[in-house]
Amino acid sequence: MNLFKITIVFVIIANSLTLSGQEKLSNDKRTLKESFKDHFLIGTAMNQQQIAGIDTTAIKIITTQFNSIVAENAMKSMYLQPKEGQFIFDQSDRFVDFGIKNDLKIIGHTLIWHSQAPDWFFKDSLGNDIGREALISRMEKHIKTVVGRYRGKIYGWDVVNEAFNDDGTWRRSKFFEIIGEEFFSLAFKFAHEADPEAQLYYNDYNTALTAKRDGIAEKILKLKKMGLRIDGIGMQQHNSLTFPSIEEIEKSINKFFGLGLKVMITELEVSVLPWADSGPTAEITSTEAYRKKLDPYKDGLPDEINKELGDRYLSLFNLYLKHKEKIGRVTLWGVSDKDSWLNNFPIKGRKNYPLFFDRDYMPKSFVKDIIVLSDKFREN
Ligand code: GLA
Repeated sequence: MNLFKITIVFVIIANSLTLSGQEKLSNDKRTLKESFKDHFLIGTAMNQQQIAGIDTTAIKIITTQFNSIVAENAMKSMYLQPKEGQFIFDQSDRFVDFGIKNDLKIIGHTLIWHSQAPDWFFKDSLGNDIGREALISRMEKHIKTVVGRYRGKIYGWDVVNEAFNDDGTWRRSKFFEIIGEEFFSLAFKFAHEADPEAQLYYNDYNTALTAKRDGIAEKILKLKKMGLRIDGIGMQQHNSLTFPSIEEIEKSINKFFGLGLKVMITELEVSVLPWADSGPTAEITSTEAYRKKLDPYKDGLPDEINKELGDRYLSLFNLYLKHKEKIGRVTLWGVSDKDSWLNNFPIKGRKNYPLFFDRDYMPKSFVKDIIVLSDKFREN
């Protein structure tokens, strides 16, 4: 080989090395939905501004990056039926129309939940708790009206949300207190009758806690044996940088799949802020020491924390991809950091950074790494 040829070979190798490294990653323009299409659905929650068509930048991100949507609030019972028999469907109709127009799999969230339910649901005209039959009939009317309206349009419903305590026992909600545990299977029955094609899910947080995982599994298995039609469990992923551990999440994915159910990874986010109680904070919030401790990234997220956030997301996606046969969907709880409920929970007015897109709607540096990771789990 003469010197000219050696030089050419060297240049070619040098170029391909550069391209297979950093440059290739930053040139990687694949979207999330393209990257995950052989694995599972990838979705996001939509807020009011997006559903109303006002936040056009976020809408563009939703239609290019995701293939599934869920309404952060618009389909909760306090908005759909604020007064008995008075259904308001403006927002939810817009949301469903948007999903259909953009070919997105639409998730209905949520039919029966103790929270964000209107007070009247459980009371008579004198303000006393209604009886068992009356509450069952209100549940039936609500579920059948809502599910029936969107029959054939909604891919899957979160039928019941958060029915269990962290120790795995039934939550003493009004539904449970008045009806007993049968409220759970009745909700699924009504939903199935209203749309036999829709998938039906149970959705909850802290599902990686041993006692809660076991409690949910035991009760759902019992109900399944009695004929409950249920397709999946939604594991809410309101995660922090360290909690819950990958091992505990993995145990829950395996346990729920072992019941013959698909797992939906729902409400995914990673909080970078310290946990804080929402107690009486008015006084403390005014002190500088408090601000620094509980709201440390007001002026921006340091690179090392952004790196931790990226590493955490990569570990989570590595786990989801490892179990992709068991997982039907991964849904993020919002598009950009600016919209996240975590800026106001558990205390108001902090600055959190839990999602894939920053406050300027730019994808964070780790998003491309997640896209590259998805390649490793593709056959051939
Ligand atoms: C729960 C609900 C969600 C939402 C979050 C907070 O996880 O399932 O609908 O209200 O709390 O945003």
